[in-house]
Amino acid sequence: MQSLSDKTVREIALEMPITTRVFEKFKIDYCCRGHNGFADACRLAGADPALVAESIEQTVAAGMGDDTAWLNGASLRTLTGYIVDKHHVFTRDEIASLTPLMAKVASRHGERHPELIELATVFNELCDELMQHLLKEEQILFPYVEKLERSESPVFSCFGTVHNPIRMMLSEHDSAGGSLRRMRELTNDYALPEGACPSYAALFHRLEGFERDLHRHIHLENNLLFPKAIELEERTI
Ligand SMILES: [Fe+2]
Ligand SMILES: [Fe+2]
Repeated sequence: MQSLSDKTVREIALEMPITTRVFEKFKIDYCCRGHNGFADACRLAGADPALVAESIEQTVAAGMGDDTAWLNGASLRTLTGYIVDKHHVFTRDEIASLTPLMAKVASRHGERHPELIELATVFNELCDELMQHLLKEEQILFPYVEKLERSESPVFSCFGTVHNPIRMMLSEHDSAGGSLRRMRELTNDYALPEGACPSYAALFHRLEGFERDLHRHIHLENNLLFPKAIELEERTI
């Protein structure tokens, strides 16, 4: 584990996907700010690097399943397929069922807990942005990347180089990350008030799951798919 200090959090998350559980626990940003070195990323999250390293060591030793390191060597087509099937489907499903739940909890408890009203606004804006974002990836960026891989020669696109849509996706990921952080602030890290009803508890529990999945989703795009797509395009020009 000594080698952790020589790596960025993005590299650690790609080599050992299981470590993303530890990063989530300590609120270490491994997706949008994955370029930070291990110690810097820990400090930014207010976490002790030694403690985080110990937790990573224990998690890796426990060998809890769900390891997706194989994605590092996967084709771009496999990677985009995995992202759509696993993360885009989950995001759309959760948005469809969390939206009415969010509205219900905010209308029932918003008077006593006004932060729920702002939470609903931030969440709804995030959902609107995400729905557009997923479409842009599925209809523009991913098909281009897949075509590039198939043809292994320059491919015409309306956006010029792949850097342009990627720049836009990165900026939208940053915006989504900001919304997730705001939602955490508003809910005091999803702490439930005394006597919270089952709907309130279910909402907070599922919003945390939504956040966890989105972090992992953004990580795979920012740190694996996009660099691979840029490299492939450069090779074909
Ligand atoms: Fe995506
Ligand atoms: Fe994305």
